[in-house]
Amino acid sequence: MVKGAASPAGSAPKAEPGAPAGATAPSAPTARDAAPKLLEVSSLELRFGGVKALDDVSLDVRRGEIFAVIGPNGAGKTSLLNSISGLYRPQSGEVVLHTEEGPRRLSGLAPHAIARLGVARSFQNIELFRHMTVLDNLMLGRHVHIKGGVVRCGIYWGAQRREEIRHRRVVEEVIDFLEIQALRERTVGTLAYGLQKRVELARALALEPELLLLDEPMAGMNVEEKEDIARFVLDINQERGTTVVLIEHDMGVVMDLSDQIAVLDFGRNLGTGTPEQIRRDPAVIRAYLGEAGEALIAGESSGDAGAGGGTAEGVAATANAGAAQGESASASTGRGSDSANRGSSDDSGSGSGSGPGSGSGSSSTPGNTDDSRAPKP
Ligand SMILES: Nc1ncnc2c1ncn2[C@@H]1O[C@H](COP(=O)(O)OP(=O)(O)O)[C@@H](O)[C@H]1O
Ligand SMILES: [Mg+2]
Repeated sequence: MVKGAASPAGSAPKAEPGAPAGATAPSAPTARDAAPKLLEVSSLELRFGGVKALDDVSLDVRRGEIFAVIGPNGAGKTSLLNSISGLYRPQSGEVVLHTEEGPRRLSGLAPHAIARLGVARSFQNIELFRHMTVLDNLMLGRHVHIKGGVVRCGIYWGAQRREEIRHRRVVEEVIDFLEIQALRERTVGTLAYGLQKRVELARALALEPELLLLDEPMAGMNVEEKEDIARFVLDINQERGTTVVLIEHDMGVVMDLSDQIAVLDFGRNLGTGTPEQIRRDPAVIRAYLGEAGEALIAGESSGDAGAGGGTAEGVAATANAGAAQGESASASTGRGSDSANRGSSDDSGSGSGSGPGSGSGSSSTPGNTDDSRAPKP
């Protein structure tokens, strides 16, 4: 399921092994440089007290690509997605979406306004209405597109009805696409975890987004479930032409699916490049394995690469092996349980602030507590 050269809107050609990660200066222009930008993030800075969740982060996502964001727990990946989707307000920097009507500044807009511009997301921790059916959750996912208010409803009930039918059609199409027909009437809370994650993906897709932000859509899944989701992500990108920003720990998946990868560590962007560039970038290897990474790099340069082979994938594999022996590793990430990480409680809070029922500001949801903790400019 490798994302091949057939990807839309020109994925970058693979660089020669050993080329430096191209964040700062890809010397020769690539096919990617010619592809139109969809999302531009410039110099984002987000602080929580003394913690810099994002420290001068810049990147751009081209139309039609799968753009992965990787980095250790606490690196700022979820904060980046929250800043793009309007849940967090960075103290400085800018996020611009290049829509068909021209560039739109997302910074300062409310999450529902950003969703309406064509940006949808899934959450690291599932944010669905557990007591409602799959179908109802997906219909709610479309609420940002519903135009009619009570008055309009009363006067133009015909138009309202046509709108409802269209929403229904979009939702049914997404249900078919993600192969969850059998779950339509099931209550979300009764579904296995892997299926709930798939329904969350469906809810985001039901918005018919131009840009889909996925925060660890495969976390906690078994191998088979992961393969399914990876295939769906690829299909969403290639068949529906949706641009995807994907946070994922599994380096195999990331390397297979992505056109472009950005590496965050301690809130900084260590580098952006093609999978081939990233997997050999010493800074990436260091970020993933610290001193052991240094040893690997040194080992490779002295001709003794060891099991990891001196690449980020090798490092990830090594880290996986270590985690499996040691502390509670989540099967999918091998990087230790994310729920043990302080990021996750923040996630669930902010997440419920913009879950399916809350795109419109969500003032009374518990998520707002977290939202209000987010610094304002
Ligand atoms: N709502 C918040 N309140 C306080 N600190 C936060 C909040 N959200 C994120 N952080 C901090 O920002 C840093 C980055 O977190 P996060 O973006 O969740 O990382 P990642 O998703 O890469 O694991 C962490 O130090 C985390 O504790
Ligand atoms: Mg996270």
